[in-house]
Formats: sequence, structure tokens, C-alpha cells
Amino acid sequence: MSHSQSGQSVKELLREIEILRRERNAVIIAHNYQPPEIQDIADHTGDSLELSRIAAGTGAAVIVCCGVKFMGETAAILSPDKTVLLPVPEAGCTLADYATAEQIREIKRKYPGAVVVTYVNSSAEVKAESDVCCTSANSVEIVKAIDPSKRIIFTPDYNLGHYTAGKTGRDLILWDGCCPTHALLSTLAVEKARKKRPQAVFMMHPECKPGTLAMADYIGSTSAMIRYAKQQPAGTEFIVGTEVGLIHKLRKENPDKTFHPASDFLICPMMKMISLRDVRDSLKKMQHVVSVPEEIRVKAKAAVEAMLLYTGTPVKSAG
Ligand code: 13P
Repeated sequence: MSHSQSGQSVKELLREIEILRRERNAVIIAHNYQPPEIQDIADHTGDSLELSRIAAGTGAAVIVCCGVKFMGETAAILSPDKTVLLPVPEAGCTLADYATAEQIREIKRKYPGAVVVTYVNSSAEVKAESDVCCTSANSVEIVKAIDPSKRIIFTPDYNLGHYTAGKTGRDLILWDGCCPTHALLSTLAVEKARKKRPQAVFMMHPECKPGTLAMADYIGSTSAMIRYAKQQPAGTEFIVGTEVGLIHKLRKENPDKTFHPASDFLICPMMKMISLRDVRDSLKKMQHVVSVPEEIRVKAKAAVEAMLLYTGTPVKSAG
């Protein structure tokens, strides 16, 4: 029998989580980068866009968000009538930390009239200063939908912004933030991985650097990669250019295909902070509640809702 660090068996922990989940009328959502054991207990796994939609539409009273802080905040922004719990409150996002609300106000003063498009990997305060949010699954669609006479400020991810500019032909004002995990994937690492497995399809996340992305066979959000892999014939081999957590789901859903990490170093330490014990404690003690000040929440919600409206999935959430 396998045991958690506390000596309690994993089986016992899973049982406790199951009971608490029902007692609390809770839904557990997990990002595709979460550790395998967390993905396996989640009611829903998904990319940032899918998790936002689930948070907005759930009938549960409690949302346990297994992901990083901005994901919990997005859930709280969309569902003020629900209790949103983040099992480990220290799990942040370095990319999100590249932009502050004051910096956004400053750039808006520099480019009056420009539309601010903000990647969801951002704080609630930054979202509140933005016109519309986007995720890696819809940044191209959102930018394309914006009045061509308007200038667009794209924050905080330079790489996603650069990729989106290339796909839309729009001259975006880019920010200099990046995800340190995706930035680790160098062109040399891609060359090496390709040489080792020349037959494999190379998939990459648009948070990778432009030079690296130019070497990809397929570029997409985590869920787009899952869909793409499913569509390929049995026996296909893939090299996965994103956080290694995605490989668990890819393998689970495609037992007839092979998946290799592009590099063993593509690990987001923040995404790996949550354990089964943390989820159990979160449900047991109702910790750590994500709260967003109301005046920030209302403004941030408008930017998130604008995104969902652009993509044809308006929310029916309260507040
Ligand atoms: P996805 O929306 O593609 O899942 O990406 C979220 C993220 O944080 C990537 O680093």
C-alpha cells in the first residue's frame, strides 16, 4: 500500500477526499499541468479557458481549484456566490508577476484609446485594468475580432503576443513577460530531440520563444494539443513542448500513441505544489479561500466576460 508523507495511506486520503467532496457539495477542477494523482481525482481537468467555463457554469457550492493563483482568482471573479479554495495559496505564476496594475495604467496613458488584451495568466488587478482577457486557446480569435483601426496592447506574455501578432497580421504593442518554464525550451534542445526521434510530431505551446516555435509541427494550448494528438493515427509518436504534466493526460487518453517530453526540465514548480493531502485539508478546513475585492472583481469580470462573449460562450454566472 502506498503512503503519503504523513504516513496515511493514499487509499485513505482518497476516501476522505471523496467523503468531503460530497459533504461540501464541491467540485474539484485541475489544470492539465497538475501532478498525475491530482488530475486523477479531479471532476474536470482542462486548459485555462475550459477551467474558466467550468467555474462559471458549475452548480456546486465549493470550487477546489488545483492550479495556480490566477486560476483560483478567475474562478472567484466569475462565481462570487461560490466558495473558491486554492489548496496551496503560495502557488503563483511567474508570468503573471511580470505585470502590475500600475504598469498597465501607465502604458494606457502612453497609448490612449488602445485596447488592452490581457492573457489570463495575470492578477485580478491587472485584469481589472484590461478591456478583454484571452487564453492561449483563443488569443488569435480575440485579436482578430478587435476593430482594425484600434491599436492593441498585449500583456503580459511576449511570446504569446508575438505568436498572435504573426497569426493575425496585427502590429501588437508587446509586453516583456514570459513563462520561465516554456522559455527553457531552447532551439538546441529542440534540434537534439528531433535528431533523437526524427519520426515524431513536435507539439509546442505558444508560450515558447519565437525561434523555438518556428521549429514546431503543431502549436496550441494544452487542450488543443490533446485534441490534435487524438486525431492522429495509432502508433504516432509525439514530442511534447510544454510543461511535463500534460503528458499524463495525453498518455491516458491515447494508449496507442507514444509521448516524450521535449526536455525533462519543463517543470513548473508552482504547478507541482499541490498534494492529495493539501486537497484533503483544503476541503476539511475550507482553506484557503480566494477572495477578490469587489470593485476589482467587477472590473476584472467584465474583461473575462468580454473574452467569453468573443468566443461565443457567454457566462450565466451570478454577480
Ligand atoms: P493553457 O491555457 O494552454 O492550459 O496554458 C495555461 C498556462 O498556464 C500555460 O503555461
